[in-house]
Amino acid sequence: MANADTIVALLKAAGEETRLRLLALLAEGELSVKDFTEILGQSQPRISRHLKLLADAGLVTRHAEGAWAYYRLTENGVAGSLAGWLKDELDGSTQDVARDRSKLTRLRMAQREKAAAYFGKIAESWDRLRSLHAPEAAVEQGILQCFEGSDVETLLDIGTGTGRMLELLADHYRQGMGIDSSREMLSIARAKLDAAGIAHAQVRLGDIAELEDYSDFADAVVVHQVLHYFDDPGAALGAIGACIKRNGTLVIVDFAPHKFEFLREEQAHRRLGLSDDQMESWAQAAGLKVVKVDKFPPQDSEGLTVCLWQLSPVGRTQ
Ligand SMILES: C[S@@+](CC[C@H](N)C(=O)[O-])C[C@H]1O[C@@H](n2cnc3c(N)ncnc32)[C@H](O)[C@@H]1O
Repeated sequence: MANADTIVALLKAAGEETRLRLLALLAEGELSVKDFTEILGQSQPRISRHLKLLADAGLVTRHAEGAWAYYRLTENGVAGSLAGWLKDELDGSTQDVARDRSKLTRLRMAQREKAAAYFGKIAESWDRLRSLHAPEAAVEQGILQCFEGSDVETLLDIGTGTGRMLELLADHYRQGMGIDSSREMLSIARAKLDAAGIAHAQVRLGDIAELEDYSDFADAVVVHQVLHYFDDPGAALGAIGACIKRNGTLVIVDFAPHKFEFLREEQAHRRLGLSDDQMESWAQAAGLKVVKVDKFPPQDSEGLTVCLWQLSPVGRTQ
């Protein structure tokens, strides 16, 4: 229940053509101001003004990250109900909405290609780069602890890169599968797994946006240093969650929120770390719950804190 003033404010905020287009785009997932300006072809101040009106009315929530800000549809309360209603009822074939959505698909594709080009270029040096900013030994110890005493039939390593997680956890699963969208990373992974004599793991080309073949596939899923390459880690988590069996487990390792803007330009990062609150809310939307959180502080002042979240599926019937 909400009072009439609140409802008038919500309807006024939503009842304008550009703002309706912004809401329709947000029904597809989290977007940055930069995404909106590219899709709508309108100036940043103009888009920001519309987003502020939507945020003031409570229809969207804003998350600032360095020089960028991300927006998502509100999920709770009367504003959440209106946002949900718009999401369900807005005709996707309406000209502007359809055009905006197809521009968003193209934009995401271009961003994925940019990330793939980056990983293609750095594949050879990734094993050196990966430990540069992170307390790697402690993190790996933390990951191993999640698997101590557990008997994993199938482990899926999403965004496997050079296959380090398959190698680290080799004694803890019977069958390992690594998925990555970079051919260059995968060829190094194959060579490394061969050299280490790990015959019970294989790697395949694949994209997180297209994980349908791995639905209900794994007893354990690992996603190590991957989600910060996504504008919408929540949507990625939804796809990842569907790969886990009912009693399975998911281990996500990523950076805590940080201010190192240069990582966007130099290392293709999209998000400047992920917070516990974000993880909780993405997990909830993906039918998962966070059961454990570990933090690994940096080794030096240039370093980054790494977080480990262990999650389980909730309320699955099969
Ligand atoms: C930072 S590396 C981490 C690799 C590995 N997990 C590790 O910790 O060494 C991120 C990996 O995610 C992969 N990746 C990025 N976007 C992806 C996508 N959309 N689908 C599948 N893999 C993706 C990249 O190709 C890259 O190998």
